[in-house]
Amino acid sequence: MRRKIIAGNWKMNGDRDLVRQVAERAADSAVEAELAVCPPFPLLPTAASQLPFGVALGAQDVSEYEAGAYTGEVSAAMLLEAGCRYVIVGHSERRTLYGEDNDRVAGKFVAAKQAGLTPILCVGETLAERDAERTEAVVGEQIDAAHEAAGTQAFQGAVVAYEPVWAIGTGRTATPEQAQAVHAFIRQRVAERDGSEVAEQLPVLYGGSMKPDNAAELLGQRDIDGGLIGGASLKPDSFLAIYQAAAEG
Ligand code: PGA
Repeated sequence: MRRKIIAGNWKMNGDRDLVRQVAERAADSAVEAELAVCPPFPLLPTAASQLPFGVALGAQDVSEYEAGAYTGEVSAAMLLEAGCRYVIVGHSERRTLYGEDNDRVAGKFVAAKQAGLTPILCVGETLAERDAERTEAVVGEQIDAAHEAAGTQAFQGAVVAYEPVWAIGTGRTATPEQAQAVHAFIRQRVAERDGSEVAEQLPVLYGGSMKPDNAAELLGQRDIDGGLIGGASLKPDSFLAIYQAAAEG
């Protein structure tokens, strides 16, 4: 049985007060599911010191390089030292706004794993790609790129987040059936590459307008193991309500 994970992706939002609010609310959360918060880099130290034991910390991006002359970048070792367990790689906003392609994302995936972080690899198709029935081709390539860079057992100790680009921040959620179909495809693809044992243990999260009122149904699908939450993670009540749905489901 895979333990569900609810991870908040704050993007370029939040402040120390929001860290405090989430830390207070998270203190009385249950143990049946994992709660993780991914604030912007400058809030990591505050979050590391304030979040209660058991609430995981994550970052939103990482360099593919270990160290050196890379102005503006942050290494995986630095994130580990700052108290992170997770790091999001390949979020669609990084891919589209900052030109990160599958190779770069795969490099970040490898760097995170080598440092001992758990990468949350984001994959997902645009609306045009879905309409052209290219969802599996696009998502399959995104999975394969990480696999080729990281080698056998690439997805051991990793997390995948399926985030249909057309559902992110739009209020338009994939139906549970649409999401489940892609999640099953991802697990199947990983099974073909890394074997069924790794695939069965792999947490595959859904992201894209997950909210308290649609979380339970999405999280009830066989291959949906949690959520990567954007907008709703900025409202502690909503975020914790989604978490409750995961813990109870
Ligand atoms: P959303 O964002 O929940 O606001 O749609 C999800 C994400 O981008 O990770």
